[in-house]
Amino acid sequence: MKLFKSRKNEAGRPDFDRLPRHIAVIMDGNGRWAKKRGLPRTAGHAAGAEVFRKIATYCKDIGIEYFTVYAFSTENWKRPAEEVEAIMKLLEKFLGEALQDMEKNRVKVKFLGDITALSEDLQKLIAETEEISKKYEGVQVNLCVNYGGRDELVRGVNAWIKEHPGQEITEEVLDNHLYTAGIPEPDLIIRPSGEYRLSNFLMWQSAYSELYFTDVLWPDFTTRDMDEAIIAYQSRDRRYGGIK
Ligand code: FPP
Repeated sequence: MKLFKSRKNEAGRPDFDRLPRHIAVIMDGNGRWAKKRGLPRTAGHAAGAEVFRKIATYCKDIGIEYFTVYAFSTENWKRPAEEVEAIMKLLEKFLGEALQDMEKNRVKVKFLGDITALSEDLQKLIAETEEISKKYEGVQVNLCVNYGGRDELVRGVNAWIKEHPGQEITEEVLDNHLYTAGIPEPDLIIRPSGEYRLSNFLMWQSAYSELYFTDVLWPDFTTRDMDEAIIAYQSRDRRYGGIK
């Protein structure tokens, strides 16, 4: 359901008829948000998880087809154990609630990354959520967990070599051996918190993505910030290496 369709031409709103199909976000700035408030970093992640829900719901409401977030990278294991544990707990909480509200929300949930490194309980919850939600056709929410762009590429190539020893790989084949197989490339990648890098996120898939950076910390990110990112995207001239 596109709630804002009728407001298409309202000043300061995106054109809801020309939305990006796929938006990806690096949910950065949780730690700094917490520090500014004298709170533990884990409180920043909890606030970030709430914003994730709000923005995912917004994506569904306005008609974004794919919403992908970087929740935990292959490098994030280097963080203190209690921080890692807190993020895993937030994922567990999200999945528990998603399973309960599934009929109401009708959101397709998918995890991208090597989830075999996660706890058995979490893996079970993930499998259950993915299985039950695969029939839904609203927004598809992709959570990148234990995800790294380089790791994804190496795994993809190795899987291909194992299946077809001695045969050259093509772009199309590699594409189909990534976690994102079947998912269109992100049209727009948003990084909040004033950092200007991709940090190993969707290295292959971002070749022609439009990038949007804002100083807002992820826990402060609102639907208005999302609108601004989409408006900026809509002003870009996407040429994919060609000319117009
Ligand atoms: C980056 O901010 C954020 C992370 C490494 C974790 C993001 C995880 C969540 C928002 C919770 C996941 C759960 C769900 C349900 C999506 P940072 O910690 O690097 O912030 P800083 O740069 O300010 O220190």
